[in-house]
Amino acid sequence: MRRAKISIIGGGNVGASCALWAASKELGDIIVLDIPEAQGMVKGKMLDLAECGPVERFDANVLGTANYADTAGSDVVIVSAGIPRKPGMSRDDLIATNVKIVKSVAEQVAAHSPEAVMIVVSNPLDAMVYTAWKASGFETNHIVGQAGCLDVARFRTFLAMELGVSVEDIQALLLGGHGDDMVPLPRYTSVHGIPVSQLLSADKIDACVQRAKAGGGEIVKLMGTSAYYAPASGTIMMAEAIIKDKKRILPCAAYCEREYGVGGYFVGVPCVLGSGGVEKVIEVDLNADERTLMDESISHVKDLVKTVRETFPELA
Ligand code: LAC
Repeated sequence: MRRAKISIIGGGNVGASCALWAASKELGDIIVLDIPEAQGMVKGKMLDLAECGPVERFDANVLGTANYADTAGSDVVIVSAGIPRKPGMSRDDLIATNVKIVKSVAEQVAAHSPEAVMIVVSNPLDAMVYTAWKASGFETNHIVGQAGCLDVARFRTFLAMELGVSVEDIQALLLGGHGDDMVPLPRYTSVHGIPVSQLLSADKIDACVQRAKAGGGEIVKLMGTSAYYAPASGTIMMAEAIIKDKKRILPCAAYCEREYGVGGYFVGVPCVLGSGGVEKVIEVDLNADERTLMDESISHVKDLVKTVRETFPELA
């Protein structure tokens, strides 16, 4: 049986961290591709990572490249190409630059790995998943965006800090776009099965919700660029679910037609992830307040996609 092949397009902080998590979990062979001007950097980083194999005990071919031919036949392709935000910028400010980059990347991915499941990480996330879908022509179940895994991990981290319990015992649900109007759902959050509302006051839960929503910005402010360890960790959790056909239920930006009344956009929802990519979108009941927040988030995603369509009519 051959090893799985994972290609990562974009060898910056997120891409390199994805390679590190994927290698440490021994998920398969890893190719990281960047533009020709950055090929020394990406080849060096991947040689450095390959040299961890004897110590960390993974067997994998780990390669940096600028040549898409090296990515051919990938099972999973992670798209982390694009510029990150700087202090004072919102994710949306990246759209003009990143739509061009993600469009050309997705065309190359479709040409070289037509059977792959593509996981998009570039921002503004929901618009970049749409861009990759249109540019690649992939079936909607083979395109998915990473956002919810990161956002819910942040929410769980803050709740665990507040409660003084293990992060492992916090289960939470989060919907919507990967913007400041994402929708963490305390009503679907529990601590080893105990509803979080029985253990924390409404004010404290709300403080964790607000911190999770602004979690990306908190890190940009501290270090001058966007986060990478946790975004990469969430991405590799998705890649692992696909490669091992685990049927995990994870919050991802998935294509929703009638689900949640979205009407044909990629939005964060709980999905079953397996070897078929997004195998199912799971719908949960929302109360009136949650529905309002979800609708606001969906409307923001639609505005971003409108900008993409106006910039590139061929992606409409
Ligand atoms: C964040 C970026 C990756 O939320 O969107 O940190």
